[in-house]
Amino acid sequence: MPDTLTVIDNRTTKQYELEISSGSIRASDLRQIKLSEDDFGLMSYDPAFSNTASCTSAITYLDGEKGILRYRGYPIEQLAERSTFLEVAYLLLYGELPTKVQLTSWTHNIMHHTMLHENAKKFMEGFHYDAHPMGMFVSTIGALSTFYRDAKNLQDRETRMLQAFRLIAKTPTVASYAYRNSLGLPYVYPDNTLSYIGNFLNMMYRMAEPKYQPDPILERALDVLFILHADHEQNCSTNAMRNIGSSNADPYVSCAGAAAALYGPLHGGANESVLRMLNEIESINKVPDYVKRVKKGEMRLMGFGHRVYKNYDPRAKIIKETAHQVFETTGKNPLIDIALELERIALEDDYFVDRKLYPNVDFYSGIIYEAMEFPTDIFTVLFAIPRTAGWIAQWLEMIEDEDTRIARPRQIYTGAEERDFVPLEER
Ligand code: CMC
Repeated sequence: MPDTLTVIDNRTTKQYELEISSGSIRASDLRQIKLSEDDFGLMSYDPAFSNTASCTSAITYLDGEKGILRYRGYPIEQLAERSTFLEVAYLLLYGELPTKVQLTSWTHNIMHHTMLHENAKKFMEGFHYDAHPMGMFVSTIGALSTFYRDAKNLQDRETRMLQAFRLIAKTPTVASYAYRNSLGLPYVYPDNTLSYIGNFLNMMYRMAEPKYQPDPILERALDVLFILHADHEQNCSTNAMRNIGSSNADPYVSCAGAAAALYGPLHGGANESVLRMLNEIESINKVPDYVKRVKKGEMRLMGFGHRVYKNYDPRAKIIKETAHQVFETTGKNPLIDIALELERIALEDDYFVDRKLYPNVDFYSGIIYEAMEFPTDIFTVLFAIPRTAGWIAQWLEMIEDEDTRIARPRQIYTGAEERDFVPLEER
């Protein structure tokens, strides 16, 4: 059987053969379907890209119906159990797990770019004491573009990789400075003898002690959370990264744009909203009423639902287990009981069952972050740090893809027909 699609245009009765490749047709093949020679040709209308592949990618595989997530072929469950975030970041960028030698060199490259230029630090000092950490993160990552003018040399792979090291290395520094700025605490310089996660905790929490020692259980829990958040194929922020990057903008401003997309409560901002929602619900016995209000359409159940997953988000499953391990060290966060009850009721309710709404990655993560004493405001930044690795991997893949052209969607114009200008005194 030929891999083609036969289309009959009932307006003209003309028949067209469209090639099918990887389960898709090329949208531009529709353009041959015309009413007349000067007709623009048929387009497809897909306002939220819900059925449009914008690129080919070999990085992350996701089957939303089955609840499967793999980075470069490796199941997320195996990576969360046996790998580390830095190893996973390498895997995302280079396509293979590193050998011992490669991992040593990669770790060295990342850990020796953790410092921020003093002027970038001063830039951050300019933020108001109650500035939202995500606003600070977005602006400072964008501002890094002004420090690394070499980043514009996109044609050179070595230069591109240098920006990759810098971005993965500096995001924890920017995040921790955003946190310390909000408390009026002095910034802590990176300690490169610690692990990537250990150093981040050091920059967040070190006070007067001469050397900060992270709690190994919390360090590992954050490592797992970072692995789970590292990439998620063509989501809103990754699409922003590719979109901005397709104009050959440098990776810092592209990354700032991606982080801005992540900030929204329907995307990475949901983890912060979940915590606020659980606090608003207050106790288990108020859960049924809250669910009723959600079903009436008064609000959404934050941390529930996903554009692609129509099954339990595999990341949420792992995070739920991690929460219990963290609580053994930190003590139980009582919000977990409200979350579990919310999940139990929602998963039995026809409204959620019919719409295939399950807990997503953001449902349980905030409860862990709170138990680890991260303030609610910084939750989305904790998503942005590991996702930076995914954004860069996708950006590198895009730059090296021969099919890449500047992203430029079409529109269906619904405005006024041509009309003549009316002078002010006649309006
Ligand atoms: N609570 C209540 N109803 C919901 C929810 C929810 N969280 N999510 C979707 N629905 C309903 C929605 O009202 C609609 O119902 P109806 O068909 O009666 O109009 C139906 O389910 C389909 O919703 P949709 O808005 O068409 O779905 P979408 O694919 O456009 O949106 C989503 C996906 C993630 C934005 C949405 O599920 C949502 O708003 N969830 C809450 C926010 C959230 O947790 N976001 C994190 C997403 S995962 C991590 C990440 O990407 O950063």
